[in-house]
Amino acid sequence: MRSLILSLLLCLCVTIQPSEQKIEQANDGSSGTISMSPPNLNDEETESVHMPSYLKCDACQIIANLFIKGFANAEKKFKDDKMLTESEVINVVDSVCNSQFEGYGITEIEGRKRLKGPDFNFDVPGISQSGGKWPFRFHQICLEYPGAVSEWIIYVWYRKHEARYNDTQKQLFVKWMCEEAEEVAYCAPKKKKKASKKKEL
Ligand SMILES: *[C@@H]1O[C@H](CO)[C@@H](O)[C@H](O)[C@H]1NC(C)=O
Repeated sequence: MRSLILSLLLCLCVTIQPSEQKIEQANDGSSGTISMSPPNLNDEETESVHMPSYLKCDACQIIANLFIKGFANAEKKFKDDKMLTESEVINVVDSVCNSQFEGYGITEIEGRKRLKGPDFNFDVPGISQSGGKWPFRFHQICLEYPGAVSEWIIYVWYRKHEARYNDTQKQLFVKWMCEEAEEVAYCAPKKKKKASKKKEL
């Protein structure tokens, strides 16, 4: 009897692993079970100092939105359409890239590794892992943008697309930065990249 109780207890411990919670979802009428487990990370995802290449498109979109926020915030002091000075622009980009990227990290959405954080994939259920090497990875890829296209050009496109006004305009700026901004357009289709490389040769 004692061993039966013991083995029952043992079974309980194994099934109630906090990392493998199953959560019932029934908000839009479609009930189903989704598995809530932390992303299963490989060595590159836990150890590398670099942003894994398949996450760079997500990273670009996160950084583009942080640039928009930073520029819009710095422009708040103007009552009219005045533009920031070049040194103010450099300060904004600098403070975005040197921020802690708090809350941004990796998760798994429908079997695919994705980045997640404030204003990005945040309403998607699932456990994410941030901290660790992630702030440095964001810092590093963030610096690629001023390096490749310059702070001022980033700001000019932000202004050109009127990204401070609404989400539609914001998306145009994000599209420029992540699909058109030269070698740092990490969301650009791979074909296009190869084609432009050929042109250079
Ligand atoms: C967004 O802002 C732009 C620029 O001011 C404007 O032309 C456009 O109509 C706005 N779009 C929406 C959906 O509000």
